[in-house]
Amino acid sequence: MRADLVIKLGGSAITQKDTPYSPNLAVIDRIADEFSSSWRAGRVLLVHGGGSFGHRAAIKYVDGGSKLFSPRGIAETRHAMHRLTSILAESFLEKGVPFFAIDPSACFFYEEADSKPSLGYSLRPVELALSAGLLPSLGGDVVLSSQGHGRILSGDTIARILALASSARLLAFGTDVDGYLEGGKHLGKIGRGELKEIIAAAKGRSNDVTGGMAGKLSEVGEYLSSGGERALIFNATRPGIVARLLRGEEVEGTYID
Ligand code: IPE
Repeated sequence: MRADLVIKLGGSAITQKDTPYSPNLAVIDRIADEFSSSWRAGRVLLVHGGGSFGHRAAIKYVDGGSKLFSPRGIAETRHAMHRLTSILAESFLEKGVPFFAIDPSACFFYEEADSKPSLGYSLRPVELALSAGLLPSLGGDVVLSSQGHGRILSGDTIARILALASSARLLAFGTDVDGYLEGGKHLGKIGRGELKEIIAAAKGRSNDVTGGMAGKLSEVGEYLSSGGERALIFNATRPGIVARLLRGEEVEGTYID
């Protein structure tokens, strides 16, 4: 499978974080518009987060980590993600973009023999969707484990796996901030050698946004050390950036390579 670009749309950009089950329709519709004007089939994989849908449902059931033991909780979380995915699909399809939702819970799974879970997957459906001229889209999800429970699989991890499997030139994380912020301003570039130190600094700060950023940067670190080329953290709530990314242009944000 080959793609140029993997874009993850974070839940903080496409939903209203503090209001349960509420999409940020203005942002979703604008991004769909930008896909409609600038997307070409066969080169892009889309991933989205859970925001006030998936996280809201999962929080009632997770065991303190990422495991869900209640069948009802697993099913509700899956359904919450379906609802958000449907809203995205409607918006993209209305603008003529063949958004094709693929359930991660149907192609990712955890094999757990001892305490360490190992993530298995088959990306063949994604590859086939790409070659059929569709825009494959996967949301963060609850995926099933061989031990009979569910586990939250974040869209950031899915995006990293897709970017590596497709040898993408760029793995781009869309958030609601302009990149990695230091002293109120975003850094334009982080070298892979500096990443460890920056992750430690981000972890040390206590607010949610930075906590989310540390996780994202750790995912980027894993991506680069597994052979990934280049990653980007950008603000998906700012008009025009997605369109420019789709056209292969440089944008504002924090590039890490
Ligand atoms: C979360 O996915 C998925 C569920 C909670 C089921 P992400 O972790 O990628 O979501 P955001 O982008 O942080 O909202």
